[in-house]
This record gives sequence, structure tokens and C-alpha cells, in this order.
Amino acid sequence: MSYKFTRKIWANGLIIVFLQFITDIQHMFISQEVINQRLDKKIFKLLSEVADELNLETYLIGGFVRDIFLYRKSNDIDVVAVGSGIELAKAVAKKLGKNIKVTIFKNFGTAQIKYKQYELEFVGARKESYLRDSRKPIVEDGTLEDDQNRRDFTINALALSLNKERYGQLIDPFNGLQDLQNLTIRTPLNPDITFSDDPLRMMRAIRFATQLGFDIFPDTFDAIIRNKDRINIISKERIVDELNKIILSPKPSDGFILLEKTGLLEIIFPELFALKGAETKDGVGHKDNFYHTLIVLDNISKVTDNLWLRWAALLHDIGKPATKRWDPKLGWTFHNHDFIGQKMIPQIFRRMKLPLNEKMKYVQKIVSLHMRPMQLVEEEVTDSAIRRLLFDAGDDIEALMQLCEADITSKNPNKVRKFLQNFKIVRRKLKEIEEKDRVRNFEPPIDGNEIMQIFNLEQGRSVGKLKLAIKDAILDGKIPNEYEAALQFLMEKASEMGIYPQNNSTHKDS
Ligand code: CTP
Repeated sequence: MSYKFTRKIWANGLIIVFLQFITDIQHMFISQEVINQRLDKKIFKLLSEVADELNLETYLIGGFVRDIFLYRKSNDIDVVAVGSGIELAKAVAKKLGKNIKVTIFKNFGTAQIKYKQYELEFVGARKESYLRDSRKPIVEDGTLEDDQNRRDFTINALALSLNKERYGQLIDPFNGLQDLQNLTIRTPLNPDITFSDDPLRMMRAIRFATQLGFDIFPDTFDAIIRNKDRINIISKERIVDELNKIILSPKPSDGFILLEKTGLLEIIFPELFALKGAETKDGVGHKDNFYHTLIVLDNISKVTDNLWLRWAALLHDIGKPATKRWDPKLGWTFHNHDFIGQKMIPQIFRRMKLPLNEKMKYVQKIVSLHMRPMQLVEEEVTDSAIRRLLFDAGDDIEALMQLCEADITSKNPNKVRKFLQNFKIVRRKLKEIEEKDRVRNFEPPIDGNEIMQIFNLEQGRSVGKLKLAIKDAILDGKIPNEYEAALQFLMEKASEMGIYPQNNSTHKDS
């Protein structure tokens, strides 16, 4: 190597080192400025005062500190004291005023105060170690360093000193700030230890990566793969909590791809995992329904924050593996996957400890109807079909249409344009018909009780048949959605069936 060339490399190296130095100084400067701004609040000054009075080393720690640097607003404040967090909480509450209540969780050694918009959580710094098959830690008092060591990620282990002498000083032993700047999720200790201590952290790593748009550090990522089976000792409630946070992220597919790649998806959500893969027969393939579903989920997430509509997107094709058939003439078919998918939902919700109430019914309804608007445009958009869709979807018609539009994932722009155009026609028709016929939430103008009274009938098949006939006649547009028309139709229908009104009937127009 020539002398000149070596000198050039040296000079470039020096410039790079110098620029790095300037950037570091800048970061330090910006960080401190941000910290000072955020700590310039009565509540933190008060915490500082009390900590000094009790002669307790005290810090802000965890998500609140992380969010300062991410410019995210947070009112959940975690405070750690090297000593008794509970004593600190009691003294703080006293200073805040008479009506301030301290909730003490003796088992966890923590205390909580709600003050204005804030939720303050106090804990004593501790050392924790876990037994292999248990989430129950053996807890000992420890130093700040011990406490930071036992935390999940470097970005969540940042601490800010609250004592007056070092007010606002950042204690960052694992370069968490650097990881924040590099958009990296990394465990402070050997990841096998961190994940083994609390396997939920594997889900949390993926959740934070998805929420924040971060990458998982390769070493940390590989440890998730190694430790994935430990997720089985975690309660379903905690797992689904993280899953919901992934689903509510700006781009949820990132999280599901990570779950799949680490092997966690197969354990916690086998039905979704089963969508993966594309089979080919006689040169004919079908789409990979896992990746298709993720695109649909991302699409719907651009238009709604509704967790349950996002769940419906995630589950809309869940019945496909069970209904997949090869037909030599038609190719791959998934007949009735909407119906089968809808039927699978209760068992999935039950296992995952998701609610089994109207929220689940909503997801089922959207999944069961998700093919209808598409079938409508493929056939002919008749008024009767539109009325039936309006009747079946009721107030959820808009959500259903949103899902159907999100379900268009073709790469062919002409196809996409055609589908969107067709859905526009369906939407226009839906609006017209609803304005004209008001069938969206309609109850047929004559109900079963009235039919029983008019004809002096017991509850039974004939009553059901007459009721259904009225509903169908209205939805098919044979009669208007009005009482008189319905009554006349009922009389005709009943006489066809050999049923006649009784004199003692008390129906509306008698
Ligand atoms: N923590 C941890 N391991 C866990 C849960 C929490 O180490 N399994 C620590 C982290 O330091 C975390 C803090 O406890 O920052 C508070 O936890 P939590 O409130 O659950 O999370 P946040 O980080 O505040 O984030 P978010 O509010 O988004 O859940």
C-alpha cells in the first residue's frame, strides 16, 4: 500500500471518528434537553423532595423513560427506590394531599398511586431469580444495577435519577439510548436468561418491534427461537394481551411475520399457522393464505382502530385449510370456508381467553358474511340480494364493506380497479335501497305473537313458516315494508296453507 493511500485512509478514519464524536455530543445534548423538559413538572419535583427526605436513592425507570426519548406521551410512571418502594409511596401520597390513596400489593412489594392523569407505580430495587418451570421469582432486595439487570430490554432499563444532587441524570448501563437510536430491541443480559426468567418477554420483544417499527437484535432473536416452547408456561390472558397490542399496531403483519419466523405462532395460534403455504397440482397453485391474510390485516388497519374488525380480518379465511379441495375442472376450491371459519371462532376465542360475548359474535358475523358482497358483484346486483345483505349485516354493513375492500390483494392493477369499481356500485345500491326500504335493522311489521293471535295458533312450524314468508316477501321486494301490506300478504299466505283467522283475534286492525 502506498504511503499516500495509507495517509488518505487515516485522514478519512479521523474524519469519521470526529463526526461520530460530534453526533454523540449532539445526542447527549439533545437527550438532556428532552429529559429536563419532561422532568420540569410538579409531580417529579415532589417525588425528588420526598426521596431526599427519606434519604432514598430513587429513579424513574422503564417504559416512561423510554417514551421520553421516543417523544411518546405516557402517564404510567414507574418509580424504583433502593429501599422500600412502599414507604416511598406512602410518603409521596401524604405530601400530595389528604384524599390520595395508596394501593399496596404486598405480594409483589409494590404500591400504586393514582394522581390526576398519572398512575404511579412504586417498587423497591430488587434482584430476582426464577425457578425453571415457574413464573414465581425468588425476590431479594438489590441495587439499581440489579434491578436494571432483571429488566426485559435495554430500552426499558433506562433510569433517570430523581434525587436532587443528580436530578435528571440518565443511568444507562446497557446502551439503551443507543439501541433506541438504532431502533433495536435487545435484552440487557444473555437473552436465554432474560427469556427464561419470563418467557412472555419473547412476545413483548415482538410486540415492541411491531409497535415501534424496531428490529430485534440477532442474538435476541435467535434466543426466542431456542426458548419458544417456554411460552407454554405463560397464562393465555397475558399472551393474548400482547397479541392484541400487535394487532393494534400500525402494521400488524410485522408482528405476525416475526411470530411465524420464531416458531411462536405455531404454538400460540396453530389455526393461523395452518394458512401458511401454497400447494401446486397439475401446475395450478393457490395463494399463500397466511401472507394474504396479513395483507388484509394491514389494509384494514389503515382504515380502522377497531380491534374486533382487525380480528375479523385476521380470521376471515381461517376456514380455508379445512375446506381446501382439488377439483380437476375448477382447480383449488375453498367452498364454505366462510361458514366453517365462522364456526371455528368460538373454540379459538375460548382457548385464547378472548371474550365470548357480543364482540365474538361480531367477529363471527363479519367472517360469515365476508364473501357476500363479492358474490353480489360476480352475479348481478339485484335489489333483492342487496336487501338481504342489508338485513343480515344490519349496522355492521360498513365494517363488512371495509373488510371486503381490504380483502382485495391482487397484484394485477386492472383486477383491483375492477373490484373496487364493483364495490362502489354495491355501496351505491346499498345506500339507495336502505333509503328506500329501511331494511337494515328491520323487524318484520307482524311478529310471531300477532300471527298466533290472529289465527289462534300455538307456537310451532306454521307460525315460523308464516313469519319467514313475510320477511322473505319484504326482502325480495314483493311487498313494501309496511303493516297493511304485510297483513294482506299474511292472509293470502295463510289461506294457501288452509289457515284462517279466528273471530276472537285481536290484531292491530281488528
Ligand atoms: N418489565 C420487564 N419484564 C416484563 C414486563 C415488564 O422487565 N415481562 C419491566 C420493563 O422494564 C418495563 C416495565 O417493567 O419497561 C414496565 O412494564 P409494562 O408497564 O408492562 O411495560 P412498558 O414498558 O411500560 O410498556 P407498555 O406500557 O407499552 O406495556
